[in-house]
Amino acid sequence: MFETNYSEVSQFVLLGLSTYRPVQHFLLAFSTVFYVTIVLGNLFVVFTVTFDPYLHSSMYFLLANLSFIDLCLSTLTVPKMIHNLCSGHKTISFQGCVIQIFALHVLGGSEMVLLIAMALDRYVAICKPLHYLTIMSPQMCILLLSGAWVIGLIHAVVQVAFVVHLPFCGPNEIDSFYCDLPWFIKLACTDTYRMEFMVTANSGFISMGTFFLLLMSYIFILVTVWKRSSGGLSKAFSTLSAHITVVVLFFGPCIFVYVWPFPTVPVDKFLAILDFMITPILNPIIYTLRNKDMKMAMKRLSSQFLSLRMIS
Ligand SMILES: *[C@@H]1O[C@H](CO)[C@@H](O)[C@H](O)[C@H]1NC(C)=O
Repeated sequence: MFETNYSEVSQFVLLGLSTYRPVQHFLLAFSTVFYVTIVLGNLFVVFTVTFDPYLHSSMYFLLANLSFIDLCLSTLTVPKMIHNLCSGHKTISFQGCVIQIFALHVLGGSEMVLLIAMALDRYVAICKPLHYLTIMSPQMCILLLSGAWVIGLIHAVVQVAFVVHLPFCGPNEIDSFYCDLPWFIKLACTDTYRMEFMVTANSGFISMGTFFLLLMSYIFILVTVWKRSSGGLSKAFSTLSAHITVVVLFFGPCIFVYVWPFPTVPVDKFLAILDFMITPILNPIIYTLRNKDMKMAMKRLSSQFLSLRMIS
């Protein structure tokens, strides 16, 4: 008898960001342009780092992996949002919703660990330059990357294990453009207070903890550079400020979605745009347009490409 109750909701309705027609048209144009840019920009970073032998260092490998995760994160949410805006058809199946939550937490967890790995890489490069090549070896890179994926996977399994057996019987409208735990849990027809606490603890405190860890490590690097010589500070600051911008933009929305205690203010769903459309665009811009090595690599690749075309 209870079993039949449990399976009554087989799909959810994603209400999206707005029900107002002109705003929807704007969102459609905006997200299409941004998504195309995200795909091209991040694929470009991955290809440049993979095919240019001069960029085979730990920093660029980590960067290419970050681009790859960013690309997956927006592919998980934005095309579905574009499709819903186009068709006016707003449903997502129960399984689809759980899969989206799971993948989101695998990718989000991995991205957090990867950002820590990138901070570590900068720390070694700036504070222990003589040991950089021995510490940040290819093995170390692979270790950090596997660590990132394993931690992301464990985090997601734990989160989804908590919620996958929740009973759903009535309301099925999610007030956002993608499925995530805070909204999902609220729809369950049972007392979810403790569940909400677990989710806040797991996702919220992890993102807050990681955020402060990263900020402190960047401040530590800057102080170390500043003590050594005041001349190096501006150069280090220009590299690190890019990292810090990405970190603030990535973690701000996460912290808001999970830890913000006033659900009546619907800012969290708009802030999520930052994670799925703005940070994935910023990474290629910050790291390619502002980076000399990357620009050199672009020139080398395009001249190789041109000479190939002349031969064939
Ligand atoms: C991620 O980093 C590893 C090196 O540690 C590299 O072999 C791999 O190509 C990178 N992945 C992407 C998508 O660039």
